[in-house]
Amino acid sequence: MSDWTLELDLRPGDGPLFRQLHAGLRRAIADGRLAPGARLPGSRTLAKRLGVHRNTVLRAVADLTADGWLETVQSSGTFVAADLPRRPPPSETTGPTYPLPPGPPPDDRRPPDDPAILSFTSLPDVERIPQAAWARAWRRVLGRHGRVALDYADPRGDRGLRAALAHMLATTRGLAIGADDVLITRGSQMGLYLIGAALLGPGDVVAVERLGYAPAWRALAAGGARIAPIPVDEGGVDVEALARRCRRENIRAVYVTPHHQYPTTVSLTAQRRLRLLDLAVEHGFALIEDDYDHEFRFDGPPLFPIASVDRRPVIYIGTLSKVLAPGLRCGFVVAPPPVLERLVARRLDIDRQGDGVGERALAELFAEGEVQRHVQRMRRLYHRRRDRLAGLLRAHLGDTLDFAVPAGGMAIWARVNPAVDLERWSAAALARGVWLMSPAAMVADDDPPAGLRLGYARLAGDTLTRAVRALAAARRDGRRGG
Ligand SMILES: Cc1ncc(COP(=O)(O)O)c(C=O)c1O
Repeated sequence: MSDWTLELDLRPGDGPLFRQLHAGLRRAIADGRLAPGARLPGSRTLAKRLGVHRNTVLRAVADLTADGWLETVQSSGTFVAADLPRRPPPSETTGPTYPLPPGPPPDDRRPPDDPAILSFTSLPDVERIPQAAWARAWRRVLGRHGRVALDYADPRGDRGLRAALAHMLATTRGLAIGADDVLITRGSQMGLYLIGAALLGPGDVVAVERLGYAPAWRALAAGGARIAPIPVDEGGVDVEALARRCRRENIRAVYVTPHHQYPTTVSLTAQRRLRLLDLAVEHGFALIEDDYDHEFRFDGPPLFPIASVDRRPVIYIGTLSKVLAPGLRCGFVVAPPPVLERLVARRLDIDRQGDGVGERALAELFAEGEVQRHVQRMRRLYHRRRDRLAGLLRAHLGDTLDFAVPAGGMAIWARVNPAVDLERWSAAALARGVWLMSPAAMVADDDPPAGLRLGYARLAGDTLTRAVRALAAARRDGRRGG
């Protein structure tokens, strides 16, 4: 009871106050609001706070002590008993009294929380963020602009950061845009959810890559839309299969990852990009382009987004989750003004606006060139890790995995020898401290591929070697088991 004051509803006239106090304290203990071992204030303090006579407190405390709810330790005070007479079963306090609709499926995309487990996730290495410069920028913004930055503000996000993002997109991705063409969201996930809420409804169909990024599908379908899986091959999403589907039914939106297809890492061919744009115009669907890892292209020239060819049919989505850190929750959407207006209206309903201080601090990091330098450093680092992982996989798992080295990104997609029981291998790997994402989490129907997305961005030198060796050892365990 040292931080907040526990409020008790005592009403003169509703019976003796010592009984009301007794019942109130007992309920607070039984509900867990007063934890076992918590110290009660002294009787004088409590009496003063509650506006009752000290004898009232003493009597209630004496009765609760006799009942086993409180215990008094000589010269130390009165405490909630460590061993309570009756703990309510959890269902009594945690379950609602009304029926719940069916819940979402379990999230099998997340690695276990255990830091000792090496995970082939494609999340970035956050150890290397420009921490000191970032902390300075935060402090500066709070000190100089705190009053404004902490107020209600533009739901599209801080104008300085929008301008910095627009400048980045114009110079590095061929998008001729300005600050007002950008909506900053809490991660691209929010952008996708806003699109689902603002543009799609029950009965609408969203075409997605059959192998793809399930969180995006869930966000787009949250408003009631139906997901239609389109096959993916070495050239990215099969655009002719999409064309056939468009002739059969009315597709309202298409969600794709053309830069490095998730999870297969292939880049959508130039011809398919143009065909996709034509189809979007012909059939009147919104083309949602998720350009989540644009910065990480190692081989060949940069690959501009589809939106750089024609922005009108495209809703372009990007994120700083891969470049800086996922916990930053900073993504952005670029779309024609009437579309952005709809998204902004939805944003106002659920979140009002982003993090004013954080966005201004980020804008300062862009202005200082910190983000740009960080991107360059990470691009070199991930390039090395990609090559290292490719070499290790060839050396240790050459007979089990078949893969093409991706031109960039944060993961290698490997097809698994059909003779291998992938589920069993993953379980054996986990027993050896290595986590693999299940391909079942990346498929829009019931036919998971025999493939693995092996993220390398977070695995530094020796760790990468250890992780691949453990995978190879787990593979041998599987073989011995039959
Ligand atoms: C395909 C894809 N899109 C987007 C994201 C980023 O999501 P967010 O910006 O919500 O962190 C990820 C990250 O895992 C991703 O793999």
